[in-house]
Amino acid sequence: MSGEMQEDIDKIIITAEEIGKKVEDISQKLSTDYKGKDLTVVAILNGSLVFLSDLIRQLPLSMRLDTIGADTYGAQTFPRTDPRLLNSLKVDVQGRDVLIIDDIIDTGKTLQKVLEDINKYKPRSIKTCVLLNRSDRRQVELEPDYFGFKIGNEFVVGYGLDFNNQYRNLPFIAALKAECYGKR
Ligand code: IMP
Ligand code: MG
Repeated sequence: MSGEMQEDIDKIIITAEEIGKKVEDISQKLSTDYKGKDLTVVAILNGSLVFLSDLIRQLPLSMRLDTIGADTYGAQTFPRTDPRLLNSLKVDVQGRDVLIIDDIIDTGKTLQKVLEDINKYKPRSIKTCVLLNRSDRRQVELEPDYFGFKIGNEFVVGYGLDFNNQYRNLPFIAALKAECYGKR
C-alpha cells in the first residue's frame, strides 16, 4: 500500500492475513453454536462494519441483521463521555437468539449499554462477539463471549476502527504515529 494513509502508520499490529484466519476460526465456532437457532446479528456501527461483512459471509446459517449506532470517541483516543446509542432495534428479537458484533471492547460501557437496551425486548439468548479485546481498561464487569485478539493499551485503527472517523478502510490493525493524533 502506498499514499497518504501509509505515511501515518507507525506499525502494523495485526496483519490482514492474521485477521482473515481469525475471522474464519470465529465463524466456524459460530456456525456450530448457532446451528438450528434463530439468529439475529446486531452490529454496532460504524466500527464493526468491516468485521461484520467478512464474518457473516462465512456463516452458512439463516440469520437476520440489524444495526445500532453508538457514539463515544470523537477526535480523541479516550472515551469522551458515556456511550450514546443513536437508535434502537428495528427487527423484533423477542424469543430469538441475538449475537451482538463490535470492533473492540475497551471499557465495556458500549456493549453493556447495548445489552441493556436489547434485553428489554426479551430475546431467548444474547451473546457478544468482538474482534479485539482490550481487558486492561475495562470499567464494567463484562467479558465477550467470542473475541479474536487480545490487545494492549495502544490505540489502534484499521479494519473498521477509526481515529476521528478516518483509517477505517485499512485492511490491517495498526498504531498511528503520535503526531497524527494531534493533527486532525
Ligand atoms: P468501550 O465502550 O470503552 O468498550 O469502547 C468501545 C468502542 O470504543 C468501540 O466500539 C470503538 O468504537 C471505540 N474504541 C475503543 N478503543 C478503540 C481503539 O483503540 N481504536 C478505535 N476505536 C476504539
Ligand atoms: Mg465503535
